[in-house]
Amino acid sequence: MSNLFPTYNKKTINFQNGKGTYLYDAENKKYLDFLSGIAVCNLGHCHPKIVDALQKQVESIWHVSNLFTIHKQEELADLLVKSFNDGLVFFCNSGTEANEAAIKLARKHSGKFHFISFKQSFHGRTFGSMAATGQSKIHEGYGEMLSGFTYVPYNDLNALMDEINENTGAIILEVIQGEGGVIVGNNDFFEGIQALCKKHELLLIVDEVQTGVGRTGTMFAYEQTPLNPDIITLAKGLGNGFPVGAMIGKKKFATTFSTGAHGSTFGGNYLAMSAAFETINMINDLTFLESVKEKGEYLFNKLNEMKIEFPQITEIRGKGLMVGIELNNPVEKLVELLLDNGLIVGTAGANVLRLLPPLNLSYKEIDEAISIIKKAFSFYFLDSKVH
Ligand SMILES: Cc1ncc(COP(=O)(O)O)c(C=O)c1O
Repeated sequence: MSNLFPTYNKKTINFQNGKGTYLYDAENKKYLDFLSGIAVCNLGHCHPKIVDALQKQVESIWHVSNLFTIHKQEELADLLVKSFNDGLVFFCNSGTEANEAAIKLARKHSGKFHFISFKQSFHGRTFGSMAATGQSKIHEGYGEMLSGFTYVPYNDLNALMDEINENTGAIILEVIQGEGGVIVGNNDFFEGIQALCKKHELLLIVDEVQTGVGRTGTMFAYEQTPLNPDIITLAKGLGNGFPVGAMIGKKKFATTFSTGAHGSTFGGNYLAMSAAFETINMINDLTFLESVKEKGEYLFNKLNEMKIEFPQITEIRGKGLMVGIELNNPVEKLVELLLDNGLIVGTAGANVLRLLPPLNLSYKEIDEAISIIKKAFSFYFLDSKVH
């Protein structure tokens, strides 16, 4: 009997160690990890450079609080701001905290409290981020949400236009809705959003918690769209497994988040900063990011080819190495079957398999995953006659 709250539907498997794209269980069975701890270990498990940076850091200093200067915060902020082209950074410990910071900043700066979010979005589990999340199942049982959020269908510009009123302060969105089913926003929609933000002087918050840090083949996914966000939020891949989050906002917000306006005891501590600095240093490289796009295309092509043999595949969606395979069947049992065959994948809703492999995986590992997927699909759809 576990002494943990049963908030997760955990599998019994207990991984003992990991190296690169592989994880190993107690019997030393090898698993190809196409989930990366849900878009976290973007450079694979135990990347030697990050291990080295953390080991050195562990032996020198861990934590002093934000009452003192931490140079590593400045160095990392410098890298992040260069990618964002103007801005200031607030460090925290998770995606939901980054979004809380963004919501507080946008509320305080705009003085307006109606924020528009999208149906099927996911922004986190604390009260602000939960209210921003356009899924009633996330709100159920918790009473009144933080007021002011309304939700419109994603990729529906007219619905968004109709929702804006004189109290609207901001729009928050994901460039690709991750938890919502790997739903890719279209560029006309984004162009319309940008125009509406300009016209109505709305702040634009882009939640890059899942799509950011190279996942889609650019440092931030919005770079491949006409969006020009005022605020972005990061976490997941930022520390390659070490918990760290960040909110980056334009410099114009400096007086809004003035001394005492927001804070975090742990945010930006030495360990988090050394892991994140090393991670960003490796990912924020044009050749590396280009390789993510190329590997993504390779994986997409291989999956699209499978549609001929498996008409149960209704769509392959995503960008870079964030991929959704939508089936005309629930995927839960397939996830188990893939795991039995040594491949770890995730889901995004009932009918979508979600692939989020490490960004530095090899083509050979992509081929290996494809052959496991084919084998499992053949067994599931052809041999066991599931249609
Ligand atoms: C887009 C997005 N925003 C926010 C979050 C919440 O992040 P965390 O679980 O680190 O609080 C997630 C987590 O899945 C996410 O995908």
